[in-house]
Amino acid sequence: MLPDAEPSPSPDHSPAPNPAEHPVHRRRVRYAGTHPRRFAEKYKEQAPEQYADAVAKIIASGKTPAGSHRSIMVPEILETLEPKPGQTVVDCTLGYGGHAREILARLGDDGRLIGFDCDPVELPKTVERLRQAGWDESRFIPVRSNFAGLAAGLGGLGIGAVDGILADLGVSSMQLDDPSRGFTYKDDGPLDLRMNPSKGLPASAWLAKATPERLAAALRDNADEPMAEALSTAVLAALQQQPTQRTRDFARLLHEIYRSRGWTRDKAEGDARIRRFFQALRIEVNDEFGVLEALLRQLPGCLKPGGRVAILTFHSGEDRRVKRAFAEGQHQGLYEVVSDSVRRPGAEELRSNPRSAPAKLRWAIRSGL
Ligand SMILES: C[S@@+](CC[C@H](N)C(=O)[O-])C[C@H]1O[C@@H](n2cnc3c(N)ncnc32)[C@H](O)[C@@H]1O
Repeated sequence: MLPDAEPSPSPDHSPAPNPAEHPVHRRRVRYAGTHPRRFAEKYKEQAPEQYADAVAKIIASGKTPAGSHRSIMVPEILETLEPKPGQTVVDCTLGYGGHAREILARLGDDGRLIGFDCDPVELPKTVERLRQAGWDESRFIPVRSNFAGLAAGLGGLGIGAVDGILADLGVSSMQLDDPSRGFTYKDDGPLDLRMNPSKGLPASAWLAKATPERLAAALRDNADEPMAEALSTAVLAALQQQPTQRTRDFARLLHEIYRSRGWTRDKAEGDARIRRFFQALRIEVNDEFGVLEALLRQLPGCLKPGGRVAILTFHSGEDRRVKRAFAEGQHQGLYEVVSDSVRRPGAEELRSNPRSAPAKLRWAIRSGL
């Protein structure tokens, strides 16, 4: 059972508001010092069409502007999927729509891209951006669904199999940077971490119900935490004394545990371990491994003979599952060719976008029947 999956997705055909008719008037946000620090203060970054120069400077400095996402390994993905005019391609993880735009540009007037995403907050904004860029309903079809419902979602559109499938796993920078989503502790927000806030439990509620064994397993399996058992016991005991629902409070509690037990030498090490803890929670509350395995099972049935799939992973637990599924699929004759090694971002991409560092790309080609 996949708690986060939406097996009967319906395409989003709601009319998009026209920004020209409803201009957004932003009140200038005041902040201390010369640079905005908080997400809400970074109003220029969140309006790239109005502040193109400021946003270009941020990108040149190797940062991702708040409220946007820099797509990873774009040339490598295009080379792998080889999108051609007239084809139908699925982007399982639409996000900001960066990969989608590049693929759409290669599909021509007769091709179409089906874009899945389970995030009800960011998806409408991305649909609006792509519509504004000229991709109408005949060429770009958004589906608000977990990709665990890929086959059902395509079936609902009357599509059996497609020419290409992309999955760029994990969260987007928009989700990561927005404190109201609870993925970051740099700003205060609810300890939530769900990509779809209307499904499942927020991380604070998940923690309140977790046994020490369950939390230890999550820390070990999702974040390679070496002291999973001791950490799990200490955290759950501290939460019993001091229940918390906020990201900042929870990060403080973790820092205190690491510091008082001598598990970290300095703040930087503490921060790195807190990020790992958040990653473990995120993977758990979104059932990320469960839905990935559901996607991997459906892929061969959703690809035409000769169809291509490319998957970008950001964690060893994801990469291991993709590698195994492709190898088994090849063994069963479902895939004609699979990548025998991973592709990684090049030196220039690593320099200009440090968030690309953990990325690994694997691909496979469906065998002819
Ligand atoms: C890394 S971002 C994708 C960025 C995108 N490739 C781009 O170029 O803008 C991942 C996106 O996939 C979505 N996502 C993650 N897991 C998902 C799942 N199981 N089903 C549907 N969408 C998912 C997230 O909500 C997020 O928007």
